[in-house]
Amino acid sequence: MADGMIRMDIINPYIDAYLTQLAVSKDDEVLLEMEAVGIEKDFPIVGPQVGRLLQVLTLLSRAKTVFELGSGYGYSTLWFARAMGPEGVVHHTDLSGENRTKAREYLTCAGVIDRVRFHEGDAVEAFKKSGVTPDILFMDIDKEQYPAGYEAFKDRLNPGALVIVDNLLWDGRVIDMKNTEKSTLGVKRYTDLILADKRFVTTIVPVRDGVAVSLKTS
Ligand SMILES: C[S@@+](CC[C@H](N)C(=O)[O-])C[C@H]1O[C@@H](n2cnc3c(N)ncnc32)[C@H](O)[C@@H]1O
Repeated sequence: MADGMIRMDIINPYIDAYLTQLAVSKDDEVLLEMEAVGIEKDFPIVGPQVGRLLQVLTLLSRAKTVFELGSGYGYSTLWFARAMGPEGVVHHTDLSGENRTKAREYLTCAGVIDRVRFHEGDAVEAFKKSGVTPDILFMDIDKEQYPAGYEAFKDRLNPGALVIVDNLLWDGRVIDMKNTEKSTLGVKRYTDLILADKRFVTTIVPVRDGVAVSLKTS
């Protein structure tokens, strides 16, 4: 198999379609619009299945502060902001000013803009500079930067904090031993780092493209 050739469905496509139609919020105009834009522009939002996982984890952990590394036009931000309620704060980061502008529009429409703080520039640098110690750290930046994200949060988070990281299965590329793409190596390196760090208890949930959920225990 040539380098980087493996791409596979993580979930049977019929099951995936079934789960997606169960997860879609059929009367939520803002989410529906954001999901339609994701499809139209081929922009990799986490989508409704992962959105619901973020919602459940946020509610379960009673999080009041979320720091996102890689927020795009605010789709995952909206799931967190809604789940936390008016007391919550979610930190939005994205390299793209256009994404930030769109996020402001959508989050205003959804009535949660007061719960969002925007940061410009590189997400990992913004996290380091912010001094924020979030209850949930969510990572969805360029995959080669995942190890740098880990280095930034590993000692900063308090016990009880959750780390949620998207794309841990990377369309199946993680099992292609010949794949030397920086993105694939970044995902695999992150996986090794978080699993080796005994302060975190981690599970990789094979929803959509794989989501790692890690609880910091000490
Ligand atoms: C997969 S998308 C995020 C999708 C978003 N989490 C959602 O579900 O709606 C990744 C985003 O991260 C941004 N990005 C990638 N690397 C970044 C970095 N180092 N710092 C800030 N933003 C970054 C990209 O501009 C892109 O919008």
